[in-house]
Amino acid sequence: MKYNFDKVIDRTGTNCSKWDLRKEVFGIEDVLPMWVADTDFEAPKEVTEAMKKRLEHGIYGYTYRPETFNKSIINWMKKRHGWDIEDEWIIFSPGVVPALSIAINTFTHPGDRVIIQTPIYPPFQSIVEENGRIRIDNELVLIDGRYYMDIDKLNEQIKIANSSFTNNTPNENREFDQRIKLLLFCNPHNPTGRVWTKEELLKIGEICLENDILIVSDEIHSDIIYKGHKHIPIASLSKELEQNTITCIAPSKTFSLAGLSTSAVIIPNKKIRDLFTNTLNKLAIGGGNIFGNIALEAAYNYGEDWLEEFLVYLEGNLNYLMKYFEERIPKIKPIQPEATYLVWLDCKELGLEGKELVDFYVNEAKVGVNPGFTFGESGSSFVRLNIGCPRSVLEEGLNRIEKAVKRLNE
Ligand SMILES: Cc1ncc(COP(=O)(O)O)c(C=O)c1O
Repeated sequence: MKYNFDKVIDRTGTNCSKWDLRKEVFGIEDVLPMWVADTDFEAPKEVTEAMKKRLEHGIYGYTYRPETFNKSIINWMKKRHGWDIEDEWIIFSPGVVPALSIAINTFTHPGDRVIIQTPIYPPFQSIVEENGRIRIDNELVLIDGRYYMDIDKLNEQIKIANSSFTNNTPNENREFDQRIKLLLFCNPHNPTGRVWTKEELLKIGEICLENDILIVSDEIHSDIIYKGHKHIPIASLSKELEQNTITCIAPSKTFSLAGLSTSAVIIPNKKIRDLFTNTLNKLAIGGGNIFGNIALEAAYNYGEDWLEEFLVYLEGNLNYLMKYFEERIPKIKPIQPEATYLVWLDCKELGLEGKELVDFYVNEAKVGVNPGFTFGESGSSFVRLNIGCPRSVLEEGLNRIEKAVKRLNE
């Protein structure tokens, strides 16, 4: 391997959320942090070099994104995901969550309904609620260790929600008609690790088209896919879906760049794009920053070799974890992820849930995990573990969990 993913790098003292906020988040300092979704790996050296070169200039005044910025996104989407996108479809956003929030604020009104598919990355819930919209939770179903969408239920939920209001028809000013207007979609899905198949995407896409529901597809994890699976941008499946979808991407999860607040939104539909841009302009948050711009471009232009090695290393971590749980901690059942470095652990057999389960991980095992209940009610006997770390750190984490489970059973 050209890159050394085994290297343990001390991240403490860098205002790093994952390591430096342990006391604030878990109540104790002495936990191995395997929570927030970033990795403990160095970004590709091409990215660091590009930023260093600019850093050395010494003046960091106002900047803009050159043509090559969008070009790097266009090439990456084509090369990695087989989707041909056009320059004008691309809009900068200072993050994917901000983009989701802008979409909610632009295309729905207070009181409107927004579909999310729980268990789900917590901001999907909070941005709907904090903006005064109403959540429709279309629960995923767990069958033989794999999560699926409940399409029948979704049809029913749409019918019920939309039939309870008289003013149902989309109209010019759509205000307060309170229909379901938007699906906040996650592909690949966090925390279940599902990479939705073409058939699944076509099905949900069709429902949205039939019911005039805008799809906002968060594809931030789409570059981190395990062997045997293929990410398909939902918008790439047909012209109709392309015109009805806002796709959010970023190099942040993949290349250790989350602190640079740089992402991109792809909106082929001009009317939708103009409205989205209008909100971005009203909020005056479309500027971006020098280093985010440079890092995105360098990652997409030169990061592919690094990514291929990263995926091999990560798959090694995942295989190690799956075997470890099966052989040594069989009471905890990891849901096999098809993407992401996040593993959703089914802990039902421990007999603990909610806060008690988190307490067990934090205070008994001394491993900092994301509490399952924050992903939705159905997550209360689960936790999310981040395996984006050197193998030795993963080993240590699993060791600690194994010992704590043994003590629990004594
Ligand atoms: C599905 C998903 N979307 C968005 C984000 C955060 O994106 P950003 O930092 O660009 O707002 C995360 C981070 O964990 C995530 O898992």
